[in-house]
Amino acid sequence: MAATVCLVQGASRGIGLGFCRALLAKSSNTSVIATCRNPTAASELQSLQQQHPQQLSVLQLDVTDSRQIEEASKVVGDKYGHVDLMINSAGMLHPTGRGETGLKDVSAEGLDITLRTNAVGPLVMAKHFAPLLQKGEGVIGVQSSDYKSFHASVLVNMSAKVGSITDNGLGGWYSYRLSKAALNMATKNLSLELGRGRRKVICISMHPGTVDTALSRPYHKNVPNLFTVEDSVNQMMEVINSLTVDDSGKFLTYDRSELPF
Ligand SMILES: NC(=O)c1ccc[n+]([C@@H]2O[C@H](COP(=O)([O-])OP(=O)(O)OC[C@H]3O[C@@H](n4cnc5c(N)ncnc54)[C@H](OP(=O)(O)O)[C@@H]3O)[C@@H](O)[C@H]2O)c1
Repeated sequence: MAATVCLVQGASRGIGLGFCRALLAKSSNTSVIATCRNPTAASELQSLQQQHPQQLSVLQLDVTDSRQIEEASKVVGDKYGHVDLMINSAGMLHPTGRGETGLKDVSAEGLDITLRTNAVGPLVMAKHFAPLLQKGEGVIGVQSSDYKSFHASVLVNMSAKVGSITDNGLGGWYSYRLSKAALNMATKNLSLELGRGRRKVICISMHPGTVDTALSRPYHKNVPNLFTVEDSVNQMMEVINSLTVDDSGKFLTYDRSELPF
């Protein structure tokens, strides 16, 4: 049986690294490609690679650099020929590390880099990796005959509940909210374009919960139910493994409930 090929974009730490661990633990027949912008500084990813030298490859990729994305897609295409699951995990709250509390904190520079990292980068990833996803077969654990007959691989864009326009009752966090709302629109568009034809790709946006990582650290004291990376990733893996083509275009949480756009 051909190995399942999974690509995690933004795998140096946090949720992306957690996905690499979970995918490697799941099956010895899974190849994981972990991309990050500075592999030599990603010490935990390096030691994971040493534990799984056959299964885990690390590729340098800054998601704001379209040329690097295109080159990475060629490297992956030449080595593996297809991708069954791609997770766009890299993200940032704001270059200052804190979301804007109001208009006084808004800057074009802050908006620009947050949008490029959280929304533009994942869409350019989809552009270059769609042909490989369209050759994929789906992820291990998905046994539904419907699913397999559609040859549906999976694209997960890691979003955030605060990207929901409907759910926004507090305001603030302009850059992050804008970037995740834009990412959700990209997911919806991708689900339509990549849902046509026989080789479908299931495209979803996901909210991981509030997770104990560097990104959320300034706000931990206000969070009653802070997830560990492991718990959040395990729940999201269950959701991913349960997906069908009918779920494509949805904005799902770690517990599989659907969020409004
Ligand atoms: N943690 C939460 O509570 C939470 C809640 C909702 C949504 N999310 C989303 O979950 C995703 C993962 O976040 P996290 O919590 O794991 O955050 P994290 O621990 O701060 O990790 C962020 C990751 O993004 C990478 N990254 C940032 N800019 C990049 C770039 N230009 N190119 C490549 N990689 C880049 C970082 O790489 P470096 O190591 O090189 O900096 C790091 O691997 C994000 O999309 C975030 O918005 C998180």
